[in-house]
Amino acid sequence: MFKLRCTVRNCHATLQRHGKGLTCSRGHHFDRAKEGYWSLIQPQDRKSSKAGDADAAVLARHRWLQRGNANAFIKFLKPWVTQALAYSLSNSTSDSNAPRILDLGCGEGSFGPSLFGEYANSYCGIDLSKRAVRLAARGWPEATWVLANADRTLPIHDESVDCAVSLFGRRPVSELARISKPEGKCIIAVPAEDDLIELREKTQNAGHRRSRWETIVTEFNSSGYQFLQHQLWSQQMNLEREAITDALAMTYRAVRYSQQAKLESVSEMQVTLAADVLLFARTT
Ligand SMILES: C[S@@+](CC[C@H](N)C(=O)[O-])C[C@H]1O[C@@H](n2cnc3c(N)ncnc32)[C@H](O)[C@@H]1O
Ligand SMILES: [Zn+2]
Repeated sequence: MFKLRCTVRNCHATLQRHGKGLTCSRGHHFDRAKEGYWSLIQPQDRKSSKAGDADAAVLARHRWLQRGNANAFIKFLKPWVTQALAYSLSNSTSDSNAPRILDLGCGEGSFGPSLFGEYANSYCGIDLSKRAVRLAARGWPEATWVLANADRTLPIHDESVDCAVSLFGRRPVSELARISKPEGKCIIAVPAEDDLIELREKTQNAGHRRSRWETIVTEFNSSGYQFLQHQLWSQQMNLEREAITDALAMTYRAVRYSQQAKLESVSEMQVTLAADVLLFARTT
């Protein structure tokens, strides 16, 4: 499994598998949840300005992904993954050197097996939503799933990750820089300014367009990463009633019910899905 480190305050020792649990050399112990994930969160780390997605949002995203609504995006991401792993694969000599992959804010876990299916033993997904990591562990039990807060110290050793991904999730850049190997890669995806613009225009009367990616480049460049690549991905899709409801629930939680009501009479709609995707390399 993906090598994790102890989260008891100031311990940081490696966690080893012992029977059904994980134990560090100082005797701290973590049980495996019956659904198959590891809860490494400490009581003081539960609180977060963002407490993880609400169950309704996680379930909406789960249905959205199960319907195949992200299939084209996954296809788009595959060459990015190949590129991100190329360096570590060329330097690995055995299976135990399989590239270590961290998926931060992994959500309900569908992207993991689609993008990294052959690396179950060296893949770790982290999310702060219990509902999300439960679904993730059910979907891909061979991988490592962890309940932890990405806005606190991550349960991962320094310079140990070959490829970190944050798909529409948290991106704590100083922690990412700490856990990335020198030359390790980081793939970031954020909603692009036109993402679901038709839905937002209808619900909010004026859809607010905001591009985030340039700010992310500035932030990563000043935190030990080199910017390698940016691409805008977009797709037009015809959404039916259920998909429209899920798209709203999983993305724009701030949309009030009165605004959502404006969509009640809409049975289907052409929408834009769009993401900015970025690739960075940890400088040595
Ligand atoms: C928009 S979802 C994206 C999920 C997944 N990457 C995907 O694309 O399907 C964002 C995820 O970040 C998680 N999240 C929010 N705050 C977090 C935190 N502080 N630590 C870890 N995960 C967090 C949420 O629970 C949610 O699953
Ligand atoms: Zn410990």
